[in-house]
Amino acid sequence: MSKQPEHDLPTQQAYRASLLWFPDGDSDQIQFEADGLLVTERGDDGVARIAAIGPYALLHAAHAQVACTDWRGRWLAPGFVDLHIHYAQTDVIASPADGLLPWLNHYTFPQETRFADPAHAREVAQFYFDELMRHGVTTALTFATAHVASVDAFFEQAQQRQLRMIGGRVLQDRHSPDGLRDRSAEQSLLETESLIQKWHGVDRLGYAITPRFAPTSSPKQLHGAGLLAQQHSSVWVQTHVAENADEIRWVAELFPQARSYLDVYENVGLLRERSVLAHCLHLDANDRDLMAERGAAAAVCPTSNLFLDSGFFHFQEAQAHRVLHGLASDVGGGTSFSPFHTMHAAYTVGRQSVGRDGHSLSAQHLWWLHTAGAAKALGLAGVCGNLAVGCEADFVVLNPQATPLLARRTVAADSLDEQLFAMIVLGDDRLVERTVVNGRPGA
Ligand code: GUN
Ligand code: ZN
Repeated sequence: MSKQPEHDLPTQQAYRASLLWFPDGDSDQIQFEADGLLVTERGDDGVARIAAIGPYALLHAAHAQVACTDWRGRWLAPGFVDLHIHYAQTDVIASPADGLLPWLNHYTFPQETRFADPAHAREVAQFYFDELMRHGVTTALTFATAHVASVDAFFEQAQQRQLRMIGGRVLQDRHSPDGLRDRSAEQSLLETESLIQKWHGVDRLGYAITPRFAPTSSPKQLHGAGLLAQQHSSVWVQTHVAENADEIRWVAELFPQARSYLDVYENVGLLRERSVLAHCLHLDANDRDLMAERGAAAAVCPTSNLFLDSGFFHFQEAQAHRVLHGLASDVGGGTSFSPFHTMHAAYTVGRQSVGRDGHSLSAQHLWWLHTAGAAKALGLAGVCGNLAVGCEADFVVLNPQATPLLARRTVAADSLDEQLFAMIVLGDDRLVERTVVNGRPGA
């Protein structure tokens, strides 16, 4: 961040608006301040953080010298955290298929092959970050492709926008087409190591070791990825697990000695804190206990799972076994970049899988799962996904009057939970008037 001094911006900035945050980010207890003041302060490291948050009446005297933007009528809320997404699948979104494996073969692999070309990777990365920000997503754990150029384009574009982003080069050395299949496990791991050195911890960027999923990695590549995961404990791990019945059968054939699909990853040391496994639909109690013990997290991808007919995430089981989890779009299997669409789909799935005994996920819990809860799953509690004091100043400016129906329904709501629920069900990119990244309000 020090490379781009913020000469144009004051060290401190204040905003008067309605405020939404999680005072204790570890829990979904939400706080709402109808007339609030948010104060940000940029540190010597170039990162803007929340310096104060609370009722305007209580805070404004102490911050009278700070220039204050009047956004009354708007809601400031934490930037959304997307726990699993593929930037190289931006052009795959909305491609129909008969389930996961045909979808990968017909649409996804051919598109990803194009990311050997740095110009293509750059153009898609630019569009991707513009789209994320339009939707209020300020941190996303992202798959690039099996090409170094795709990773460089991802991080370069994230860095230019001063975003907190995590991503990695996909490892896939078998059962993959020419142009996407790694030439050797050794080379893919060496490239991973040098990308970690190049990008991890630079500004607000983080690296994720990224074996695509068990079927497309040789045991040698998986072992190498596990070794790297043990050597670099602050680096993330991302992969897929237990998404689809055909995929699970395939894994059982390829790894007959493993107790379960998840066990394949356990056996090579890929399960640990900061490991995020997408889907986690068809797990058993032993798997869930293992994830909890290792501190690995599940990325819940409801629009993708509905679209590809993969199954339902079991929220109650995850909670009962204390498995860290949060929400994710999984674009391009997922059908929307919008956190509101993802939260809405998660609610629908929650009703399907836990509705038998009458449970619904509350609006504030859904919101937490896509902000502070997702940050917690990443090991970034107190850093992003929240507006508590000390968190980084990434936030959305929401306009509850953005559409006639939103205006009508949110005004009629009797409680905060009803208002949030109406935004979840009726909201999309129109609700997000502006996204503030690293304390820069932008245009
Ligand atoms: N499993 C392996 N690769 C993928 C992918 O790109 N998307 C999804 N949804 N599942 C996968
Ligand atoms: Zn995915």
